[in-house]
Amino acid sequence: MAAAAVAEVASDVSGLAYVPVAFAEDVVPGRIKHVQAGNVEIALVSLNGAILAIGDICSHAHCNLSGGYLEGDAAVCPCHGAAFDLRSGAVLEPPARHKLPVYPARVEGDRVFAAVP
Ligand code: FES
Repeated sequence: MAAAAVAEVASDVSGLAYVPVAFAEDVVPGRIKHVQAGNVEIALVSLNGAILAIGDICSHAHCNLSGGYLEGDAAVCPCHGAAFDLRSGAVLEPPARHKLPVYPARVEGDRVFAAVP
């Protein structure tokens, strides 16, 4: 089992290790999908044909962003309404004050891969 998981890890010229996190068909435009890579919780979004990966834990009070909704290029936290830019992780609306991490993501075949630390 561990050997199969390792075999699916790929790296690119940047040296980042990409791990499979979802099937591409499960990342639906207009919705936020929660996935986990190791101990990193990620919110995946399909936006204008691109797959974006942002930290799923709100920097305000730790709610899951994936329980919220999308508003343009932003994800809105379900708990208190903080909004985060999906591409940069920047806070667009309070009460959150700290940006979220964003992760490189790509689709290969039928899978979505994300590079996590
Ligand atoms: S926990 Fe996200 S806005 Fe408060």
